[in-house]
Amino acid sequence: MTTLNRIASLLRHSMGLDVASVGMMLIERAVSERMTTLGLSQDAYLLALQSAPAELQELIELVIVPETWFFRDREAILSLARMAREQITAQPERCVRVLSLPCSTGEEPYSVAMALLDAGIPPANFHIDAIDICHRSLATAERGVYGRNSFRGKLLEYRDRHFSTDKDESILSELVRKQVHFRHGNMFAPDFLSNEKPYDFVLCRNVLIYFDREMQQQAVQVLDRLLHTQGTIFVGPAEAGVMLRPNLASAGIPLAFAFQKRSTPLPAVTPFRASKPAVPASVKMQALPPIPPLRKPFAPVAPAAPLAAPVAQAASSEAILARAMQCANQGELLDAARLCKEYMQQNGPNAAAYYLMGLISDARHDTGEAMQHYRKAIYLQPNHYEALTHLAALLAAQGDAAGARLMQQRAQRVAAIQEQPHA
Ligand SMILES: C[S@@+](CC[C@H](N)C(=O)[O-])C[C@H]1O[C@@H](n2cnc3c(N)ncnc32)[C@H](O)[C@@H]1O
Repeated sequence: MTTLNRIASLLRHSMGLDVASVGMMLIERAVSERMTTLGLSQDAYLLALQSAPAELQELIELVIVPETWFFRDREAILSLARMAREQITAQPERCVRVLSLPCSTGEEPYSVAMALLDAGIPPANFHIDAIDICHRSLATAERGVYGRNSFRGKLLEYRDRHFSTDKDESILSELVRKQVHFRHGNMFAPDFLSNEKPYDFVLCRNVLIYFDREMQQQAVQVLDRLLHTQGTIFVGPAEAGVMLRPNLASAGIPLAFAFQKRSTPLPAVTPFRASKPAVPASVKMQALPPIPPLRKPFAPVAPAAPLAAPVAQAASSEAILARAMQCANQGELLDAARLCKEYMQQNGPNAAAYYLMGLISDARHDTGEAMQHYRKAIYLQPNHYEALTHLAALLAAQGDAAGARLMQQRAQRVAAIQEQPHA
């Protein structure tokens, strides 16, 4: 094993990072930056890493991916607020507990705080803990001052309500800031949040994609421990597949990527039902057979339409695509992929369908297929922001830094254009 591989393995064991997800070049650059700063050879640097936790932290600060923005996956944040409001309406004395793990530079937990306040929930009725492994990101989060890159998309009305502006900077209101409690933490640390009461809502979004399967399973165990028995966990769009576990069921909220503990855990992952229509070989997903939908532990806020109805009964072809998204959100990846194909057979190539198929392949760790789908989505819709950023991440993971940069730059241009009328 080369010294660099040993360093990569150290990072995997300490923070869960799968080098394949970010590319060896990122690790190499970070290591070389630290070696230059300290004036050490690679072997001496490995020794320094093994003996000094502070140096390991310095390296971690350089290899993390802090990408985040306000109201990323808006539906997840708004669903959380809707559910919290229902719970507080039923029990006005209740203090809802939320965990944002990881919180990066703070946009995610602050979005939750804004959404809860905007939903009319009094500050005393909720408590948000926000944790990340990166000290630098946490310092930014504590400051609560943000640039344009943190505000993406067109729906920016929250900015006027909760921020003041100073030149190019947006300064978050004190009211929102004091609702979030930031802390440093590594979710793989043995005593991680061991003394905390369980949380009603856990957001663990856009980090599981940087772990390999084994570390993902470890992470899910940690999340399971932290989640209240009737709690809800939110993951990123490409991470729903990771939550396919006997004790978790989709919360059935479209585009929220939310899961709840089952009241009665399934005995094991159930094999694909033979009565379902055959799936084209190109989208076969043996690694992640679907779990049939069960009775939910409690009713979801926005119940999904029943999935058992045959596709032929769908009111229109648009309903097929909507149903495909619903299936993907519920972890029914085989069905989702089949419906995307069906939709395109009826309507011809479609960017949204290819993007969804990309997410599904991503969730199955089929990087090659995911990249093909994202490319097709971008070909059909050159300003497809999400497809551009996902493709950039996969290219970076494959070591194609130039290709990744190109896609990221295109995505940034798209984001800038989308922001213009509101800037
Ligand atoms: C892409 S950001 C996601 C932020 C936010 N959840 C979102 O979806 O926008 C990933 C974050 O994970 C953090 N991270 C990576 N490994 C971690 C670990 N083992 N424990 C805690 N945080 C970790 C990184 O520091 C980085 O800020």
